[in-house]
Amino acid sequence: MSSRIRVGIAGTGSRLPDRVLDNHEFEKWVDTSDEWIVQRTGIRQRRWVAEGENTSDMCIAAGQKALDAAGVKAADLDLVIVGTLTPDFILPACACLVQDRLGAKNSGAFDVSAACTGFLTALHTGEAFIAAGRAKRVLVIGAETLSRFVDIHDRSSCIIFGDGAGAAVLMPWEECRQGEILRTTLGADGSGFEFIHMKGGGSAKPPTAATVANGDHFIRLQGRETYRFAVNKMAEMIELMVEGQDVSQVDVIVPHQVNQRIFEAAMERLGWGLDKLFINIDKYGNTSAASVPIALDEAVRAGRINKEKLAVLVAFGAGLTWGGSLIRW
Ligand SMILES: CC(C)(COP(=O)(O)OP(=O)(O)OC[C@H]1O[C@@H](n2cnc3c(N)ncnc32)[C@H](O)[C@@H]1OP(=O)(O)O)[C@@H](O)C(=O)NCCC(=O)NCCS
Repeated sequence: MSSRIRVGIAGTGSRLPDRVLDNHEFEKWVDTSDEWIVQRTGIRQRRWVAEGENTSDMCIAAGQKALDAAGVKAADLDLVIVGTLTPDFILPACACLVQDRLGAKNSGAFDVSAACTGFLTALHTGEAFIAAGRAKRVLVIGAETLSRFVDIHDRSSCIIFGDGAGAAVLMPWEECRQGEILRTTLGADGSGFEFIHMKGGGSAKPPTAATVANGDHFIRLQGRETYRFAVNKMAEMIELMVEGQDVSQVDVIVPHQVNQRIFEAAMERLGWGLDKLFINIDKYGNTSAASVPIALDEAVRAGRINKEKLAVLVAFGAGLTWGGSLIRW
């Protein structure tokens, strides 16, 4: 049997829409305040797409930046994988639109659906293809247009979500000599599927005038249950990723950007401070599958990850799903 091929992250990129919504915008629609939102979530603003801008557009912009950073041409990609819960269409996959418009003419393309764990699921899938010798260059993307699925009259959910995309190019580590993916894990517990749920629009409840009138196409949250799950999983995933490692070698932990209080509770449980966490929830809110790759790209570009040091990625969300990665930069 051939040995596993080591896989590296050769480049990253991200795209945030230009439209900025601060917390006061929501005071027009629901009974809320900037003070409540900042205290309970840490969110100060988020980005929402403009009319006509779709998930695939942000994927293409983020993907092209990642390709440029990696020095890879789209025509040399073997696979494009998009993690998203808000593709442009239910059919076909968002990844096919991205493959075509990037000019990745020699590439396969598919989406993965794992909500906030979507990027890590795409990353681990791409890593497995390369490790097994089935692909050499893989573009993995996490992207969301959540603003089109929030009920602006539901104050417990509308204030949380933002839009954006982040991407990474994977290739054999021998060829890029950076960002080696050392450890990965994915988990799920579908018994919690109703914690974060869109009831309508799928085959169980296809869209009709009645489902739309009922708001069944909007994301509904059981916030407190999700909160407890997120604190537990964040702490558990970090612990699992750093097990047996010298923690002083960890430069940065890039968590799914879910809630500042969840970060504080999870790090307190670990007995760690917040200093290793890369946090941008204040600027972008929760962008689901896009949040980890956007934060990773910002951390890389800000020089937060030094060569040979470790980065930990952790995500958790609807499904329920969760995942982690340990990367040596
Ligand atoms: C949603 C979330 C921010 C709510 O914060 P919380 O501190 O748990 O607040 P609660 O849900 O306990 O609600 C407390 C009160 O604030 C109210 N409230 C909720 N949203 C509000 C808002 N935007 N503005 C003002 N008050 C609000 C509630 O109605 C409730 O009022 P009540 O006590 O009179 O019933 C928090 O639970 C969270 O971040 N959960 C996880 C996020 C998530 O699910 N992300 C998606 C998947 S990763």
